[in-house]
Amino acid sequence: MIPVITIDGPSGTGKGTLTDLLAERLGWSSLDSGALYRVLGVAARRQGVALDDADVLAGLADTLPVRFVSGQVLLGEDDVSAEIRTEEAGMAASKVAAHPEVRASLLDWQRRMAREPGLVADGRDMGTVVFPSAPLKIFLDASPEVRAERRYKQLKGKGLDANLPQLVRDIRERDARDRNRPVAPLCAADDAILVDSTAMSIAEVLDRVLEEVRR
Ligand code: CDP
Repeated sequence: MIPVITIDGPSGTGKGTLTDLLAERLGWSSLDSGALYRVLGVAARRQGVALDDADVLAGLADTLPVRFVSGQVLLGEDDVSAEIRTEEAGMAASKVAAHPEVRASLLDWQRRMAREPGLVADGRDMGTVVFPSAPLKIFLDASPEVRAERRYKQLKGKGLDANLPQLVRDIRERDARDRNRPVAPLCAADDAILVDSTAMSIAEVLDRVLEEVRR
């Protein structure tokens, strides 16, 4: 069986950075499952599909022409790497991701990303639903305020507009939707290792996880 390390947790905990660093360190591939839901949200908007139309969204997900090519995210031939990272795309992703039909459509696609020598998979349900038999599962958390602050610095660093109180509200809203949805709610797998990154640097988090990898 191909080894998989799952990194789950809410928005802004540093899952994506940790996933990339870990995959690079191990020479494994990585899966950014959130990007998949973000691309679906963008595709829905482009095609005028309502974000509450579960059946049409699931159909769109079945044939979603998404590819991850050398750091770029492509929808068809279009580079949507920047477009999927906006707050609006994050919110749309969390709305499309709340439909069980959509999640079912994207399941096989995600599982096919497991390739030799191994995969580091980042998301909300990697350890609970997509790769339940993964030998190492991490659940990364941090306080909403610290997560909003990290996002604020990230946006400002890119020269983008950002409003800290609004970011805290958005994070709480997205958390609530992700945690309360009926299918694959955001929660730690029973066998996940909990890491609270509120007071940790990304280097410290990486060291902590590498400790578990070596066990
Ligand atoms: O980057 P950030 O952590 O803010 O979000 P993301 O990982 O790109 O995910 C965007 C949204 O997609 C989340 O708020 C979830 O609602 C949804 N998602 C999900 O439901 N399941 C996953 N495996 C990954 C993301």
